[in-house]
Amino acid sequence: MNLNLFDAEETHSWREELCPDAVVLRGFALAGEVDILSALEQVFSVAPLRHLVTPGGFRMSVAMSNCGTYGWVSDRTGYRYDTVDPDSGKPWPSMPALFSTLAADAATQAGFSDFKPDACLINRYAAGTRLSLHQDKDEQDFSQPIVSVSLGVPAIFLFGGTQRTDKTMRVKLTHGDVVVWGGAARLRYHGILPVKTDSHPLTGEYRINLTLRKAI
Ligand code: SIN
Ligand code: FE2
Repeated sequence: MNLNLFDAEETHSWREELCPDAVVLRGFALAGEVDILSALEQVFSVAPLRHLVTPGGFRMSVAMSNCGTYGWVSDRTGYRYDTVDPDSGKPWPSMPALFSTLAADAATQAGFSDFKPDACLINRYAAGTRLSLHQDKDEQDFSQPIVSVSLGVPAIFLFGGTQRTDKTMRVKLTHGDVVVWGGAARLRYHGILPVKTDSHPLTGEYRINLTLRKAI
């Protein structure tokens, strides 16, 4: 692993390269923590967190919502991006400017300029909740990176290769960490190990993750 320190605006962040085109920006979202969480409360008041059903008929243990033009949804018919929240029939709440700016800045730090996310998936993990190994491949343009913001209770992020059976790295992600992967790393498998019981002053017993994508 390659470590070096840089100045991100007024914050000091550690940058950890996971592999070519994938980096953890430690603490990158810390300066915005309060504003991000209050923007999330607004989103949840319009598009409440819910447990989606997989195409195979299983209820996902992670609670999800979205903001932005497109929201990621799953149901018995498959996975897709949709402009409408299936629970309300209304468009997803718009993406707070803070989220798009943070994501674009993080992407730039990671070497991906001009990132303009149009989708933000919000995942909430309670103790014991996991996200199994998967690729993010429902987006149209794989030249655009994924920006993932971790808040609240820590978790172990699994970061593998482009084959499901490839060896995975275990990366502990804590409050304020931002992971960016794109380019040669864009289709790497990743997931979250079961989250341990813990609490965080700003999120209580939960871990919250935002993944910002250019979906369409
Ligand atoms: C995801 O892969 O959609 C989320 C990853 C995470 O929660 O860190
Ligand atoms: Fe993912």
